[in-house]
Amino acid sequence: MSLPVLPTISTFFIALSAVFVAIGWAQIKRRQIEKHKKTMLLAGIFALTFFIIYVSRTLFIGNTAFGGPADIKIYYTIFLIFHICLATTGAVFGLVSILSGLKNNLKLHRKIGPYTSVIWFFTAITGVAVYLLLYVFYTGGPTTSVFKAILGGE
Ligand code: HEM
Repeated sequence: MSLPVLPTISTFFIALSAVFVAIGWAQIKRRQIEKHKKTMLLAGIFALTFFIIYVSRTLFIGNTAFGGPADIKIYYTIFLIFHICLATTGAVFGLVSILSGLKNNLKLHRKIGPYTSVIWFFTAITGVAVYLLLYVFYTGGPTTSVFKAILGGE
């Protein structure tokens, strides 16, 4: 089995970023504020790395259509859209968390920090699942423009 290089690297970075969010959460529970800050900033950098690879691949190469059985394609598509919604929400919450943390707006930060972390865990888990469905459990379909890959078609 040969795995595609860029999606494998970008999925690795989403997973790594979720692991760092978990570490950062454990650190703040122990009141290690400086460590929490560094770990969470690294988690943000890893998430950004994922995003840069993903967007470059989408723009320059395209997205890969689901290559599994036609009868489960609809479930894959619903799951993919669910993952995209989680990732978009996670990105917005992530930005607000980082900015509120850096600005010491701790009232807001304490409120949304746990939500951001949990949304990010689910983003990473569903992201890895999409990767497995697309490239590991089944062989990826044709690589085409992003709109066709999400909605189906040629
Ligand atoms: C990078 C800049 C960040 C800084 C400077 C920062 C700083 C802090 C500080 C000082 C606290 C303690 C607040 C208090 O208890 O008074 C805190 C709590 C917390 N932060 Fe961050 N943080 C940052 C990023 C993040 C990110 C990106 C997340 C989520 C992904 C996050 C999640 C949390 C959580 C879950 C808590 C604990 C909230 C609670 O249960 O009270 N932080 N942060």
